[in-house]
Amino acid sequence: MEIPKSIVDLRSRRDEAILGGGEKRIAEQHDKGKLTARERIELLVDPDSFEEFDLFVTHQCTNFGMEKTKYSGDGVVTGCGTINERLVYIFAQDFTVFGGSLSKTYAEKICKIMDMALKNGCPLIGLNDSGGARIQEGVDALAGYAEIFWRNVMASGVIPQISAILGPCAGGAVYSPAITDFVIMDSKQSYMFVTGPKVVKTVLNETVTTEDLGGAMMHSSKSGVAHFVSEDEEEAMLIIKKLLSYIPSNNMQDAPYILTSDPVDRFCDELNTIIPENPNKPYDMLDVIRSLVDEGEFLEVSRNYAQNIVIGYGRLNGHTIGIVANQPKFLAGVLDNDASIKAARFVRFCDAFNIPLVVLEDVPGFLPGTNQEHNGIIRNGAKLLYAFAEATVPKITVIIRKAYGGAYCVMNSRHMRADLVYAWPTAEIAVMGPKGAVEVIFRKDAMNSDNPKKVLSEKEQEYRDKFANPFNAAEKGYIDDIIEPARTRFRLIRAMEMLANKKDTIPPRKHGNIPL
Ligand code: HXC
Repeated sequence: MEIPKSIVDLRSRRDEAILGGGEKRIAEQHDKGKLTARERIELLVDPDSFEEFDLFVTHQCTNFGMEKTKYSGDGVVTGCGTINERLVYIFAQDFTVFGGSLSKTYAEKICKIMDMALKNGCPLIGLNDSGGARIQEGVDALAGYAEIFWRNVMASGVIPQISAILGPCAGGAVYSPAITDFVIMDSKQSYMFVTGPKVVKTVLNETVTTEDLGGAMMHSSKSGVAHFVSEDEEEAMLIIKKLLSYIPSNNMQDAPYILTSDPVDRFCDELNTIIPENPNKPYDMLDVIRSLVDEGEFLEVSRNYAQNIVIGYGRLNGHTIGIVANQPKFLAGVLDNDASIKAARFVRFCDAFNIPLVVLEDVPGFLPGTNQEHNGIIRNGAKLLYAFAEATVPKITVIIRKAYGGAYCVMNSRHMRADLVYAWPTAEIAVMGPKGAVEVIFRKDAMNSDNPKKVLSEKEQEYRDKFANPFNAAEKGYIDDIIEPARTRFRLIRAMEMLANKKDTIPPRKHGNIPL
């Protein structure tokens, strides 16, 4: 039977549209070592699951002769598909059409799927590779960006939003990914900045490379904008898939349950000896985390930024938990500006998306000094305090070693409404460390004695005996139990079961006023 002309026409239009900016531009994209928008989507979603919308949309601009050059789809591929059988909405910017730059109609395409993702309670994934606002469209392009930003904000805390940066992302365009919950940057091809190196040179006479100004390593280690760095685009897609496996599709659902063969009552014997005899010696908190979680699998978020605190996802008996843990390997696990901000945002994501929090605490306090004070450690430390206090998901703390000063209060203490607080026998809970404390309260006594050194050392021992253990806090009921480290996994799983139906609320209000 002969195929009707209308269908032949449709097929040929579709074939042409699918090529975006055409074969030459696709070849150029490949020559740069980059995939096309469609190839990226194919890598991301389950085979044959992608439903594309607005393939035939074209721009409506008539400035600078633009009406003569139109491409079906107008530089962005939008639609929905499944990842491990869960529905997600996706937009992928197509650099082969006007450098992936954003026009009015392009923005409308993105807004359409953002609205659909929000209405249907599905994650939104943006694959970014764009020269920014389409210059020929002027304020229409800016309006388009602002419409996207507004939707990013409305969707925040309702559906997870994930951005992969796989090429340029410059100017105000960076603010859409910045609002999303997770940013993944490709180590080879991506950059993000508000103004590029040329403007920096003109305005400030500063010479800087694109990589140093806005590359993946900079954003993952210095600015904290990027939560993950991928080796290549394939790995970026794998990170998205892995991340999604830990989080729910919207704020009304629980995270996916993943059946595990890791026994609930597995003893973690290695934890009984992991803490060094000398309290000033470090150990790797990641070893503790991997020992506790199902199959030792932990997805660390923001691994290169503020390494004195570890955040990320693991599972206990198949259920996702968000872990916040001080890392004694870096800066002795102290809380500073960056660590406070990093952990606070993570706590708020977990709370918004019903992910219980497990805190592993070994913190000598807040980092002192002018650098910290001038950069707002008061305001930033308060963010973490605020985030824990406000969170109503199940909250469990295990004090592993040090829990000193304000940091004790902040790190999900009983008084911040932690549901359960456990301590290892190595826990030390006090206003400050023994040496510092004795210097403050016994310095005069020591100076007035014949042997100040001896007095200080005796007092230090006395202080250590009193506070460098968890029993003092346990006697007051501030911790619920002192547990053997090897039993921590079992006790945490039990705790999660006890708290599985937790219902808690905070006073009704328009919104709080977190110290931003
Ligand atoms: C229109 C654009 C464009 C743009 C690139 N193109 N960016 N067209 N508007 N913003 C076009 C180019 O003219 C070119 O078309 C094609 O895309 C490929 O670009 P190239 O420059 O050849 O590619 P490359 O050498 O890889 O460089 C990529 C780039 C560069 C670094 C992104 O194109 C660039 O600097 N573009 C401008 C970036 C920019 O300043 N954008 C505005 C940012 S401000 P032809 O046909 O010649 O091949 C902004 C404000 C947003 O976005 C505010 C939101 C609130």
